[in-house]
Amino acid sequence: MVVEEIKTLILGADGMLGHDLQKVFPDAVARGRDPNITDEALVSTFIQELSPDLVINAAAYTDVGGCEDDRETAFEVNGEAPGYIARACNKAGAVLVHYSTDYIFDGSKEVYVESDAPDPINVYGESKLLGEMNIMEHADDYRIIRTSWLFGVHGKNFVETMLGLSKEMDTVRVVNDQFGRPTYAADLAWKTAEIVGLAPGIYHITNDGVCSWYEFASAIIDNAEPCLSEEFVMRAKRPRYSVLVNTKTSPMRHWRDALGAYLKIKGTGR
Ligand SMILES: NC(=O)c1ccc[n+]([C@@H]2O[C@H](COP(=O)([O-])OP(=O)(O)OC[C@H]3O[C@@H](n4cnc5c(N)ncnc54)[C@H](OP(=O)(O)O)[C@@H]3O)[C@@H](O)[C@H]2O)c1
Repeated sequence: MVVEEIKTLILGADGMLGHDLQKVFPDAVARGRDPNITDEALVSTFIQELSPDLVINAAAYTDVGGCEDDRETAFEVNGEAPGYIARACNKAGAVLVHYSTDYIFDGSKEVYVESDAPDPINVYGESKLLGEMNIMEHADDYRIIRTSWLFGVHGKNFVETMLGLSKEMDTVRVVNDQFGRPTYAADLAWKTAEIVGLAPGIYHITNDGVCSWYEFASAIIDNAEPCLSEEFVMRAKRPRYSVLVNTKTSPMRHWRDALGAYLKIKGTGR
């Protein structure tokens, strides 16, 4: 099924998720860097002139380490801009779908439901949380979809990194003490169409199943080796557990099945 009936705008359409959203919403107006979502006047005029029924914002500054170095851009793109889009959507009477992250949580609990209190431990998480708050303040009809560990055919992602490193190294050391839920961007894009028809609010949407980064890597390559986070000097702290639990809609398929589908499409299945 493809969603054709409503006038849809996809922002961030050139990103990993944005590409998959275009397949689910083939008639959508799909925009990349133009409009720059941090330009409030531009965003407002663009949305007002287009007058969409639905705006899907997949634009974000997603480089978690980069956000530590460039706080200003992180807060502009991930924090303030969603508020501009929200205000424009309200004026146009459009539903706003926006994506957020498991990194708004500190990872001190093993699992997180939609109503758990956020407490980010890195700049990316802080900036994405501000984006959520701005949307809740300025939009009436919104869906905030929190997701995690995204991999998709059209972007740089963990699966591709592992495949690349596996060829270059005898063994690839991968952390075995951070746990989460890998999510296939194509599955998330399809689920987005369903969530548009549900009540306004926050949704936790990931593939099913839980794993460590090492367990995820082991499903991709044969030469992964477990290690601890302390072994790597990272610019951004990462939550130890960031398992998002969906209490509102049906679960998506297991991440292993989704990974299998991804590897088949990429022609790299084992
Ligand atoms: N990737 C993950 O693991 C992950 C996990 C949890 C949640 N999420 C969330 O899921 C959503 C989609 O992520 P993704 O991985 O598909 O991201 P992505 O591939 O990095 O795509 C984001 C897009 O936004 C664009 N963009 C950045 N700044 C912009 C600006 N000022 N104006 C207009 N466009 C701008 C980027 O353009 P350039 O490429 O030119 O910079 C890029 O095309 C985001 O909200 C992200 O926070 C992602």
